[in-house]
Amino acid sequence: MRAVLVSVPGDEPRVHTLADPVPAAGQVVVDMLYAGVNPIDVWIARGELGSAVPFPHVPGCEGVGTVDDVPVALVAPGLGRGRPGTYAERVVVGAGEFVPLPAGVDPVQAAGAKTAGLTALEVLQTGGLTSEDVVLVLGASGGVGSFAVQLAKNAGARVLAHTASAAKSEAVAELGADRVVTAAAPELLAAAVGDDRPTLVLDGLAGDWTQGAAAAAAEEARIAVFGTSADRRLTLDARTLYGKRLRVQGGNRPKPPADVLREDLAGLLSLMAEGRVRVPVTASLPLGAAAQAHASILARTALGKIVLSVRD
Ligand SMILES: NC(=O)c1ccc[n+]([C@@H]2O[C@H](COP(=O)([O-])OP(=O)(O)OC[C@H]3O[C@@H](n4cnc5c(N)ncnc54)[C@H](OP(=O)(O)O)[C@@H]3O)[C@@H](O)[C@H]2O)c1
Repeated sequence: MRAVLVSVPGDEPRVHTLADPVPAAGQVVVDMLYAGVNPIDVWIARGELGSAVPFPHVPGCEGVGTVDDVPVALVAPGLGRGRPGTYAERVVVGAGEFVPLPAGVDPVQAAGAKTAGLTALEVLQTGGLTSEDVVLVLGASGGVGSFAVQLAKNAGARVLAHTASAAKSEAVAELGADRVVTAAAPELLAAAVGDDRPTLVLDGLAGDWTQGAAAAAAEEARIAVFGTSADRRLTLDARTLYGKRLRVQGGNRPKPPADVLREDLAGLLSLMAEGRVRVPVTASLPLGAAAQAHASILARTALGKIVLSVRD
């Protein structure tokens, strides 16, 4: 089969011909159609997760394929980390590690739904979202941000969608946020937000953006941190923290069992089937363009998700 391989940390992802995977008892082979591309694939390919990921390494933690000709979306935890990922024509998963694709759901969009969608769901849950919240989503043009804006709106909250890029504002507005907040640098965030102070911030950027969000936030706001797109460290002025009695929290939940993951993904796919959530897909690229897809994440040229078309 054709699969993308990263031979050693930092090497460019390239297509190779590998042996077809052989399923063990209780496993099935998925014939892949589309694989979603995520920042975690990029961090792993660059070697940032250290020895947790063995090399050579097939990236890809999500995607859509067929099992016995039935279209399915994968929920298998650890794909593209401790086990070969979805940038491949065939992947082996456990019999309970996928959900059927509902009728009417675009498989390209569905391929980009699991990681970003479940993360958005999770961070809104751990952040304690209510319909009374004013939610500021940092990096709303990205995969998680796009889902978070739509899910928070569906829950009845007021949503401020942030982008650092004026060129992306229009596309971000189409996600349905109440306001698009364009701030190219963290120190511009508070002025851009103005009196519309968020009570819940979804922070997938970290670095100085966390302090920017703290300066913009309402008193007693929660700042749920779940990503490191700007930096692995975050800055916070202690006076802002205690003066406003802010709560800064990790956005992840304890690792849920497989049935919860299946249920959550099935719920997201149902929302997509009903037209209540969509996945903006910037580009559907051939498998051989994995390196270009990774570069695009780093260069921030993507809007929403990038998906690899595995059979092209
Ligand atoms: N905790 C978890 O379980 C979990 C799960 C999934 C993802 N994540 C993390 O969450 C973050 C977001 O994931 P994603 O899939 O939404 O990523 P993404 O699609 O690459 O979107 C990230 C967005 O953040 C903005 N951004 C990127 N780099 C930036 C920088 N240096 N400074 C300011 N803004 C920047 C960009 O928006 P503009 O260019 O419009 O400003 C971009 O659209 C990533 O760090 C990812 O690793 C964590």
